[in-house]
Amino acid sequence: ELAEEFLEFLDESESTAILTGAGVSTASGIPDFRGPQGLYKKLPQYIFDLDFFLSQPAEYYKIAADRIHNLFNKEPNATHRLLAMLEKKGMIEGVITQNIDGLHQKAGSKKVIELHGNAQKFFCMSCGKRYTAEDVLKMLEVSDVPKCTCGGLIKPDVVFFGEALPESAMAEAYILSENAELFITMGSSLVVYPAAHLPTFAKQKGAKLLIINQGETGLDYIADKKYECDLAEFSERIISLLGEV
Ligand code: OAD
Repeated sequence: ELAEEFLEFLDESESTAILTGAGVSTASGIPDFRGPQGLYKKLPQYIFDLDFFLSQPAEYYKIAADRIHNLFNKEPNATHRLLAMLEKKGMIEGVITQNIDGLHQKAGSKKVIELHGNAQKFFCMSCGKRYTAEDVLKMLEVSDVPKCTCGGLIKPDVVFFGEALPESAMAEAYILSENAELFITMGSSLVVYPAAHLPTFAKQKGAKLLIINQGETGLDYIADKKYECDLAEFSERIISLLGEV
C-alpha cells in the first residue's frame, strides 16, 4: 500500500524536503492553475505577467481581488495538517511551497519557504510601505486601483511572471534540496521554473525523488516513484496510520 510505503521512505531518510504546489490546496476550495478545474481553463495566464499588472492594474485587481487575495476564510486540509505533523515529529525538514495561500502556516508548519510570495501581503512600489489584504480590499471598495498614502501603486507581494523569485527563499530552498536524501513533490505540475528545478537539483545531489500528483508532471521521467492519487485522501490515510486525529 502507498501510504505504508510512503512512511517507510520517510523512515529511511535522514533528511526529507517537501515541495508543494496548488494541488495541495484544492481540497480547501482553492482552485489550482492547470488541473481539470484549474484557473487557466477560464483565465489567460498573462493575468500574472508583471507587464499586465503594471499596465492594467485595475484589470488585474478586478480579476484577482476575490480569486487570489480573498482567502482569509479558507482552512487547511489533511495534507497541510499531515505536513505540519511530520515536521513536528522530526520526519521532514520543512516545506518549500509555490503556494501563496498561507495554509501551511495556518496548519502549524514552522519551516515554510514561500517561493512565490504571499497573497495576503502587499507593498507600495514607490516607498515600500506594507499593507495587508484587508487594507487593500477596503481600498478596492472605493477605487479601481489601490494607492499608497505617497501616491504609489500598491502591488501584491507575490511573484509575477517576469519577476525574480525572492533571493533568500530561493537560497534556503536550495540548501534544503542539496541536503535532502528524499525529495517529495506534492500537488504540482512541475512546469514552472525555477521552482521546478529544485527536484532535479536534489536528485543531482543524490536525493531520491518521489512525485505525488494526480495527473502528469513535467518531471515524471526522472522520478524514482510516482504516486497518482488524491492528496487529501492519501494524507488522511497517513494521518490515521500515524495514529493521530
Ligand atoms: P498547477 O495547477 O500547475 O498543478 C497542480 C497539480 O496538482 C495538477 O497536476 C493537478 O492535477 C494536481 N492536483 C490538483 N488537485 C489534486 C489533488 N486533490 N490530489 C492530487 N493532485 C491534485 O499548480 P502548480 O504546479 O503549483 O505561479 O503551479 C505552479 C505555478 O504556476 C504557481 O505557483 C503559479 C502558477 O502560474 C505563479 O503565478 C508565478
